[in-house]
Amino acid sequence: MKQDMIVILDLGSTENTVIAREIRDMGVYSEIHPHDITVDQLNSLENVKGIILNGGENRIVDGAAVDIDPAIYQCGYPIMAIDHPSAQCSQILDKLPGAEVLKEFVFGQCKAEPNWNMKNFIEDQVELIKRQVGDRKVLLALSGGVDSSVVAALLLKAIGNQLVCVHVNHGLMRKNESESVVEVFQNQLHANLIYVDAVERFLGKLENVADPEEKRKIIGGEFIRVFEEEARKLDGIDFLGQGTIYPDIIESGTKTAKMVKSHHNVGGLPEDLQFELVEPLKQLFKDEVRACGVELGLPHNMVYRQPFPGPGLGVRCLGAITRDRLEAVRESDAILREEFAKAGLDKKVWQYFTVVPDFKSVGVKNNARCFEYMVIIRAVNTIDAMCATIERVDWDVLQTVTDRILKEVENVNRVCYDMSPKPPATIEFE
Ligand code: XMP
Repeated sequence: MKQDMIVILDLGSTENTVIAREIRDMGVYSEIHPHDITVDQLNSLENVKGIILNGGENRIVDGAAVDIDPAIYQCGYPIMAIDHPSAQCSQILDKLPGAEVLKEFVFGQCKAEPNWNMKNFIEDQVELIKRQVGDRKVLLALSGGVDSSVVAALLLKAIGNQLVCVHVNHGLMRKNESESVVEVFQNQLHANLIYVDAVERFLGKLENVADPEEKRKIIGGEFIRVFEEEARKLDGIDFLGQGTIYPDIIESGTKTAKMVKSHHNVGGLPEDLQFELVEPLKQLFKDEVRACGVELGLPHNMVYRQPFPGPGLGVRCLGAITRDRLEAVRESDAILREEFAKAGLDKKVWQYFTVVPDFKSVGVKNNARCFEYMVIIRAVNTIDAMCATIERVDWDVLQTVTDRILKEVENVNRVCYDMSPKPPATIEFE
C-alpha cells in the first residue's frame, strides 16, 4: 500500500467525518471503523500509523457504553482518545482536537507521511481490486451518475474486460439520460455495456406505494433482481461493483449513529444477495470521488455533473408515483437544467432539481378554475453532501424557469422555490 493511515474508531461521536476530513486535508489518509473492530481486522489494515478513539453523544447503546477490545491497547499503536477516555492511551482529550494538536499527533507521535493523494489512492485501489477479483468477472450497476461512472473507470483500469456494465432504465431517469449513458460508455469508452429496458417493471412495482423508505427499498431491491437476471445470462459473474460512497454509509446508520435515510445501494439490498460486493469508493467523500475521476482521465463534464440519486426521479415524484406527475418532474427538471446552463449556473450550483408533491392546488387557466400540481425548485451548494446551503438564484432566471414550466409542463399551475438548508431538510425530499 502506498499510503499511511490513521484509523478513527467510532465510539458514538457525530464528528468522525470532521476529523477524518481534517486528517485527509493534512495529506494523510484516514478511515473510520466501528468500535468493535477486532484486533485481527485492525491488523489486516495496512500502514496503520495511529488510532483515534472518538467518543461522543451516541456512546450509550442499549443502556451500556460501547468500548473497544482492550487487546487493541497492546498492539503498539499511538492512541489518542476523545471523550470517556481510557488511561491506557498516549493522549487524552475532553473535546475535539484543534488543528495543531491533531497535527502533532498525526506527524509527531504517529510519524505518518503526508502521502494521501488520488494517484496513490488509485494505485492502491487497482491493486486491491485485482487482489479481490482475480480472474473473475464484475457486474457493475452503471447509472451514469458521478459515482458509478468513476467506479466504472476505476474498474476498467483494474480489470478491463472482466468488467460487465449494466445500465437499467427504470423509468426514473432524467430526460434523454439513458441514451447518453449508452453513447458515452458504449461508443466512446468501449466498455462492455448491457442496456436493460425495465420501465414497465419498475413502475408496476411502485404503483400505489407512498412510503419513501418502501419506495427506496423496492427500487434498490428490484435493481438487484434485474442484475441477478442479467448475471444469470452471463458466465461466471461473482462480483457486483457499486458506486457506494462514504456519506451513503454514514446516513444509512452505523452501530452508534441513527439512520437518516437508507441509500439504495446500502439499505435496499435484499438479504439473499448472490454477489460479493466491490465498492472501491466507499471511503471517499463526494469531492474526493470527483478528484478521483479527474485523475482517471474522465471528461470534466462527466465528473462535475451534478449528482443524481440511485432511486432517480422516484424520490422527486413524491408519495405514490403516477405517470402524469413523473412526466411533470422529468419535463420541469429538463427546463431547469437548460435554463441553469444558459445562465452559467450549471458550473456554479452543486445540485439543482425539481420536485412534484402528490397534492393539487387551485389555480386559474383560460379564465377557468383549475386544480393541478405544483413544481418545487431546489438548488443547493455543498462540499460533501453532509450539509448544504441554498443558492440565491437570480430572480430573472427563476422567473424564466417558472414561465417555461407553467407554459410547457402539463398538469402544473404553480411553481415554488425551496429555501431550506440541510440540516434540517435533506437535499432530496424523500
Ligand atoms: P440527501 O437527500 O441525503 O442527499 O441530503 C445527499 C446527496 O445524496 C444524493 N442521494 C443519493 N444518492 N442513492 C444515491 O446514489 C440514494 O439513494 C441517494 N439519496 C440521495 C442526493 O441527490 C444528494 O446529492
